[in-house]
Amino acid sequence: MQNNHDTFSILAIPGSLRRGSLNRRLLEAARGVAPDGVDVQIVDLRPIPFYDGDVEAAGDPPAVRELKAWIRTADALLVATPEYNGTVPGVLQNAIDWASRPRGAAALDAKPVAVLGASPGGGGTARAQPLLRRVLANAGADVLAEPVVTVARAGDRFDDDGVLRDPELAATLRDLLAALVDRVGAGRDAGRRVA
Ligand SMILES: Cc1cc2nc3c(=O)[nH]c(=O)nc-3n(C[C@H](O)[C@H](O)[C@H](O)COP(=O)(O)O)c2cc1C
Repeated sequence: MQNNHDTFSILAIPGSLRRGSLNRRLLEAARGVAPDGVDVQIVDLRPIPFYDGDVEAAGDPPAVRELKAWIRTADALLVATPEYNGTVPGVLQNAIDWASRPRGAAALDAKPVAVLGASPGGGGTARAQPLLRRVLANAGADVLAEPVVTVARAGDRFDDDGVLRDPELAATLRDLLAALVDRVGAGRDAGRRVA
């Protein structure tokens, strides 16, 4: 994954490992509606080991090094979380924990991040998302508070091939990407003013 600066690069992180993940589908749908010049790359958290301070002290494992490099290279992140027992799945929390370190020079520091989430039931990850925003903000990321995109009954939004068949949701995803692009633009403008 690389950023050639002609494109706006978004690293999309699904907080689920399973093949049929609704949250991965949601990110694929976001990639599908991204405007020209916005590149969405979806990562797989399966190779990321459990955070272990001893392992970290000996040097980040290759998969962690790669994830951190991708985060640093990306202009922004798009994180799609499932909801497990009212909160963020362990695999996602674990990846954030790795990327939150070293404190003060972490890959997540000041990185613009938008959050969304899908569930097969009626909640749409409404309980997990505020917690995810808090975790990301605590890790140093620049987290968008809005738009809030909670996708309930997500199984009904895709056809059997996993293709989004909900134009309203497609428009919402476009808005979310636009908000992320705007946030990065605002940050660059502020940087130019300071420079
Ligand atoms: C351990 C576990 C806990 C769950 N807890 C919740 C929950 O609190 N709220 C909810 O809406 N769905 C819950 N679910 C159902 C998930 O929303 C569902 O499995 C969803 O498809 C996971 O996202 P994915 O499709 O991206 O893998 C839970 C599922 C698991 C495996």
